Amino acid sequence: MEYRKFGRTGLKVSAVSLGTMAFGRWIDEQASAEILDLALDSGINLVDTANVYGEGASETILGNLLKERRRDIVLATKVHGRVGEGVNDSGQSRYHIFKAVEDSLKRLKTDYLDLYQVHRFDPNTPLEETLRALDDLVRQGKVRYIGASNYAAWQLAKAHGVSALHGLHRFESLQPEYSIISREIEKEIIPFVQSENVGVIVYSPLGRGVLSGKYRAGEAPPADSRLAKGEPRLEQLLKKNAIAIADAVRPLAEERGLAPAQYALSWVLSRPGITSAILGASKPEHITEAAKAWNERLSAEELDKVDEATLNIGNRETVLS
Ligand SMILES: NC(=O)c1ccc[n+]([C@@H]2O[C@H](COP(=O)([O-])OP(=O)(O)OC[C@H]3O[C@@H](n4cnc5c(N)ncnc54)[C@H](OP(=O)(O)O)[C@@H]3O)[C@@H](O)[C@H]2O)c1
Repeated sequence: MEYRKFGRTGLKVSAVSLGTMAFGRWIDEQASAEILDLALDSGINLVDTANVYGEGASETILGNLLKERRRDIVLATKVHGRVGEGVNDSGQSRYHIFKAVEDSLKRLKTDYLDLYQVHRFDPNTPLEETLRALDDLVRQGKVRYIGASNYAAWQLAKAHGVSALHGLHRFESLQPEYSIISREIEKEIIPFVQSENVGVIVYSPLGRGVLSGKYRAGEAPPADSRLAKGEPRLEQLLKKNAIAIADAVRPLAEERGLAPAQYALSWVLSRPGITSAILGASKPEHITEAAKAWNERLSAEELDKVDEATLNIGNRETVLS
């Protein structure tokens, strides 16, 4: 496993990290345990969750499973999504952040978070309020680093400006979507994070499973797949020529001697500005297959071939989760 510098910080994270959105939503604790053990045993040190995954079940399962391994990993979670019926049970007010962090710490059975991320931009709360609340959590020792997810480049630039103006900790990382299917971050975000030395941990590197080749046009999805179980964001992605893009990439993967999922992951890790790719695994074999190839990198020539095969295919708008 390659370990990469987490933006400008001194922290190092694995080039492939484990996403746990499936824990408690699509798979139970026992299946999650197998995946977590395999991931950590094969060198993954960054584990990503969110307070809303499985309505808290993902954090609870991680809390039950990590035990003594907790101190050896970089544990990342998120705040923003609605977690209750109350008017203040979502967003990034100081009120909600202080409440949400205690709930996450309790579920995760830990007294600190390595990375606390805002799940998306909150237009209803002043950035200064959010950043001051997060800065307080860092100073209290409850949080090591702060990050943002699903931000536009201008939103991150504005947040960095607010942090600099008030002497507050800044967002050291961004978590956007990125795969051969969803490449919008290349326009504004990648140049910005390279200029400001921000860590980029990207989600859905396999296009939520589409780039594994498991979905075929005109055929029913495999019964044990996320599409069959119902995932609205995946359905949206499929409307945007995702299967045509996966079909166009498959021969390139074959030429390289990699499975389509391995090739899609290598592509992300071979692109500039990426710190880590957050792999979603719902079965142990997803980790073992990825592990066989996660040190593979594509050459400039191979990256060009992917562009030639895919860039002129249809509507490639971002699908935000
Ligand atoms: N910040 C955000 O807004 C946001 C949004 C989404 C995700 N995330 C984070 O990113 C993580 C990863 O997201 P993701 O699950 O969408 O990523 P992904 O890696 O693009 O997709 C994972 C899915 O691909 C399929 N898969 C994986 N390996 C495979 C293989 N070797 N062969 C065949 N199929 C394979 C599985 O689908 P099946 O389960 O259908 O078999 C799996 O659930 C999440 O767990 C979460 O931590 C963050």
